[in-house]
Amino acid sequence: MRRRTYRRAGGAVAAVLATLSLCTAAVHATASSPSARSAAVSGAAAGLPYQDPSLPVAQRVEDLLSRMSLDEKVGQMTQVDRTALAAAPADLATYRLGSVLSGGGSAPSPNNATSWADMYDTFQRTALTTPLGIPMIYGIDAVHGDNNVYGATIFPHDIGLGATRDPALVQQIGRATAEEVSGTGIDWDFAPCVCVARNDRWGRTYESFGETPDLPSAMTTEITGLQGTTLGGPASVLATAKHFIGDGGTDGGVNEGNATLSEADLRAIHLPPFKAAVDRGVGAVMVSYSSWNGVKDHANSYLITTLLKGELGFSGFVVSDWAGIDQIDGKNGFTAAEVATAVNAGIDMVMVPTDYKSFVADLKSDVSSGAVPMSRIDDANRRILTKKFQLGLFEHPLTDRSYTSTVGSAQHRALARQAVRESQVLLKNDGNVLPLAKSAKVFVAGKSADDIGNQSGGWTISWQGASGNTTPGTTVLQGIKAAVTNPSQVTYDRYGNGIDGSYAAAVAVVGETPYAEGQGDRTGAMGLDQEDLSTLAKLKASGVPVVTVLVSGRPLDIAAQLPDWKALVAAWLPGTEGNGVADVLFGDYAPTGKLPVTWMQSAAQEPINDGDGKTPLFPYGYGLTYDSGQPPTTPPTTPPTTPPTTPPTTPPPGPGCAVQWKVTNSWSGGFQADVTVSNTGTAPFSGWKVTWPSPNATITSLWNGTYAQSGGNVSVINAPYNGAIAGGGSVSFGFTANGTPGTPSPICTAS
Ligand code: GLC
Repeated sequence: MRRRTYRRAGGAVAAVLATLSLCTAAVHATASSPSARSAAVSGAAAGLPYQDPSLPVAQRVEDLLSRMSLDEKVGQMTQVDRTALAAAPADLATYRLGSVLSGGGSAPSPNNATSWADMYDTFQRTALTTPLGIPMIYGIDAVHGDNNVYGATIFPHDIGLGATRDPALVQQIGRATAEEVSGTGIDWDFAPCVCVARNDRWGRTYESFGETPDLPSAMTTEITGLQGTTLGGPASVLATAKHFIGDGGTDGGVNEGNATLSEADLRAIHLPPFKAAVDRGVGAVMVSYSSWNGVKDHANSYLITTLLKGELGFSGFVVSDWAGIDQIDGKNGFTAAEVATAVNAGIDMVMVPTDYKSFVADLKSDVSSGAVPMSRIDDANRRILTKKFQLGLFEHPLTDRSYTSTVGSAQHRALARQAVRESQVLLKNDGNVLPLAKSAKVFVAGKSADDIGNQSGGWTISWQGASGNTTPGTTVLQGIKAAVTNPSQVTYDRYGNGIDGSYAAAVAVVGETPYAEGQGDRTGAMGLDQEDLSTLAKLKASGVPVVTVLVSGRPLDIAAQLPDWKALVAAWLPGTEGNGVADVLFGDYAPTGKLPVTWMQSAAQEPINDGDGKTPLFPYGYGLTYDSGQPPTTPPTTPPTTPPTTPPTTPPPGPGCAVQWKVTNSWSGGFQADVTVSNTGTAPFSGWKVTWPSPNATITSLWNGTYAQSGGNVSVINAPYNGAIAGGGSVSFGFTANGTPGTPSPICTAS
């Protein structure tokens, strides 16, 4: 029987449901005041082995499992949105549901940290009234800070964090996010997205750290930040690597589309970040809506069970995406057959997220019919319960209120400001117009100059995000006014009206308005909107040097406008701390950001990625700075010369040029490697070349360099942006290859 499920409850519907849930929640609130994650308030009999924290987790799991009914096991595999319980909050216990979530924008009213914590505790107290007292786990998309919560610190979206090339910073951001999330009670974060965005048309490009596997792999440090070095420590929040697998590689960049890829390319491009996440002990993995060669990931047991759980050894639990199992048969709603397909494929918990009664009935009938073996149910429960025990939920099920005050704290905002600084990518700076003098008379224009909502992007307070003053923070304009010596020297007009030749510079803050997921797919033009173009035209007509700051979730098609700009800064989606942009504009921080994605010359080039042979406007890894070693202000228009095709002689090692080679991933028939080129001398390099014999391997893709392979020899020369290596410095390139790596001893020559 087909059943309709709801997509997100939006707008008025959500408000009504939220109010209902608050009223009923008030009824459930117990007299005891909230306290730190205190001893379990379970109604369960005390003293059973699973209740004993001194016992090994595996033993506690087996003891608990042995006491569970089928209803209780099926309930643990069921996740519902909080709005689905609005009319009957007690169903959380009645149906033994194991998890609740807040979909994008699904917030209590009022939306503040304390009411989130109260809501969480109310749900948890209900869950603990069940006979076995199994605590529920609550999931949320805190993808750039605790972004559903009004007043929380909103960090730059992942694409900006990829531009920082700073995994340690990203780990700190994970830790700060975990503190704010914990302070609202929540214990599970559907983050990080370790997706590899291969086509900038994709509406979720900004949720990716970059277009090559090495950046998302490096930024899995966020998992350690969120979870802590071991689960269950202070403010430990379960992390989720998502979306497994290939969501960023779909044909045409269509969200939830089909990725037509060889297995070698799927493994080379999209798998390494998940391997890195598993190696870091990520607790959960979320399945992608997308398909691989026509098969829905949600139905693909080879991917979920054989590859993820088997080959990578993932021991956490796999959760579906929001109503993801509904899409398996291509029709609306879900059926018992789809439930069986998804669970048998290896999905351990289903984000239903609304019709939990039907889901529970379907899965129970699947078990009684034999469509789903009990062994699969038990395996899923072992995985889920292991994480609940490891998180300490049985001992400390309630909010630790000592973290509630960290939400939006000055310390976290300072960290976010540093992340904004490091994420800015300076792409053009003719005549060194930047940094601006703090004494300069400056005109500021553009729809995103004074708009927290635009600078935060999607997944901010609401699912899609929104323009306007959506949450407390500092706009770019406010940052500029705070940076200059006299705020009266700054004039702002959104549309550029009133500008004249008396200004030292005009700063145009333009780009995209917020979107999330498929609503952000751009299948046609990828240029600026009419308002931005009109504003920029006014500024150009004044003759004043124009500094463009692009607030966008991806590269835009701006080659036609670029000649009119003296400078261009890619600001990405910086979040609430817009003063970090001003820090770069006025030189309090010299830009260090590097492009995490290749910047197209035109939308017709999409997809365009490093090493694909197309000539970009700005290559992957490009970024200028203010120091004297600044490379030319405009990137090379001619593609870098390809190295000689004649097999290279093995020249003597260059002066102080050393190479380190590391196989980072391998599979039957191929492997991936990272190569680090170091300058062990004191004199700077301006370029380098690495060569090695490769009789048994053929390169299939390479990034951060240009390669030639002839016969059994490979030579790689630097990309335009990473040839210069200071004494003691190093750069790296990566590649994938068919065949076996062997034990080459690469030779490096420097110029
Ligand atoms: C969404 C997204 C996923 C998110 C989930 C819960 O559809 O695909 O990234 O975690 O639903 O909000």
